[in-house]
Amino acid sequence: MAKEPFIMDHPLIQHKISLLRDKNTSTKEFRELISEIAMLMCYEATRDLPLKAVEIETPIATAKAHIIAGRKIAFVPILRAGLGMVDGILNMVPSAKIGHVGLYRDPETLKPVEYYCKMPTDISERDVIVLDPMLATGGSAIDAINLVKKYGPRSVKFMCVIAAPEGLAALQEAHPDVEIYVGALDERLNENSYIVPGLGDAGDRIFGTK
Ligand code: PRP
Ligand code: URA
Repeated sequence: MAKEPFIMDHPLIQHKISLLRDKNTSTKEFRELISEIAMLMCYEATRDLPLKAVEIETPIATAKAHIIAGRKIAFVPILRAGLGMVDGILNMVPSAKIGHVGLYRDPETLKPVEYYCKMPTDISERDVIVLDPMLATGGSAIDAINLVKKYGPRSVKFMCVIAAPEGLAALQEAHPDVEIYVGALDERLNENSYIVPGLGDAGDRIFGTK
């Protein structure tokens, strides 16, 4: 059975997603917001990282403290739009390695087309978090996770800023083992498989293209 998705209800995330949706938000602001949202979501998605006890000398005394127990993480943005989430996440986990999966949605068939794939060499020792701002039909996320799984990572999570119910259901069915983190769950897809109300085309808004 698929795991329940983790829908973010933090006020800071909700506030920033509302600004992101606004069609008058500039490219510069959009980039900053995506990065900040990714950073806040990363906080939740790494909540289960194991800790180990250490002793630290403070200026006052010896303290029993905890640090992350050397668990290795890799982030895998789906190109292009997933790239917009990388900087924010690296602020939180600066030693993580980054893989890349290049996919675009064919405008006619709406099916993802693969054009690039490069993973860290030690990915089999790593927990992977796949990044994409948008989960629409779910095709891109499903294919990207299929590719990542071929490299045998320790575990896979998926993080998106906005999801459509259709894409969420498809991803849960295809990859029931994958923990899914969603910033906001929207109403539906439109006839062009864009998320409603959504934010438009995430890649175009991050990179200022169209
Ligand atoms: C967007 C988005 C996802 C995909 C979601 O990418 O960033 O990767 O669409 O749609 P799906 O769930 O129906 O597959 P797009 O294909 O527009 O490419 P881009 O990031 O290069 O703009
Ligand atoms: N890709 C996007 O960037 N936006 C959508 O709404 C759907 C797919």
